[in-house]
Amino acid sequence: MNRLKLAILISGRGSNMEALLHAAEDPAYPARPVLVASNRPDAKGLETAAAAGVPTAAVDHTLFGKDREAFEKALDAELEAAGTEIIALAGFMRVLTPWFVGKWEGRMVNIHPSLLPKYKGLHTHQRAIDAGDTEAGATVHWVSPGVDDGEIIQQASLPILPGDTADSLAARLLPVEHKLYPEALAKACATLTSAG
Ligand code: GAR
Repeated sequence: MNRLKLAILISGRGSNMEALLHAAEDPAYPARPVLVASNRPDAKGLETAAAAGVPTAAVDHTLFGKDREAFEKALDAELEAAGTEIIALAGFMRVLTPWFVGKWEGRMVNIHPSLLPKYKGLHTHQRAIDAGDTEAGATVHWVSPGVDDGEIIQQASLPILPGDTADSLAARLLPVEHKLYPEALAKACATLTSAG
């Protein structure tokens, strides 16, 4: 079985990354991690990945000032050196330029904490609560040039309970994300592999 070489991009805690690494411990999982990279050298997830024996890279975006593309070229060099075939964004908190998205389009997926197309961008849970929604959720989607705008691969939802805050909702959603992301990434791999 051809397992796609997976790079996971993070900016912080990396619990979704950990869920993907865990799923990929199964030799039948259609992707195998070759790199975990972060734009923040102090991201907790880098330690977790290293402890799991996965190669890591830190490309500090602050060293590139406002030059997003220069940051992305440095990141891209790490991705290429690792032989990356598919990228999973997992709490990666940088908006990507058309150059980077264009280069990896069709080979890059993201997890977003809302039921897209609702609540693109930030503060998704507070916006769902303020709107009086009865459910929230997460979406895994292909990354396209528009922010949180690409084709949806899979979603999972959960009820918003009376008294929920953005924090309580995020905490309840997290284990839902951890189940969703490995499933959705496997689907994405299947699409890519069948596309040849
Ligand atoms: C997750 O809830 C993910 O959906 C969200 O950040 C969190 C990362 O947690 N992603 C975004 O907001 C992307 N715009 P993690 O680092 O523990 O996986």
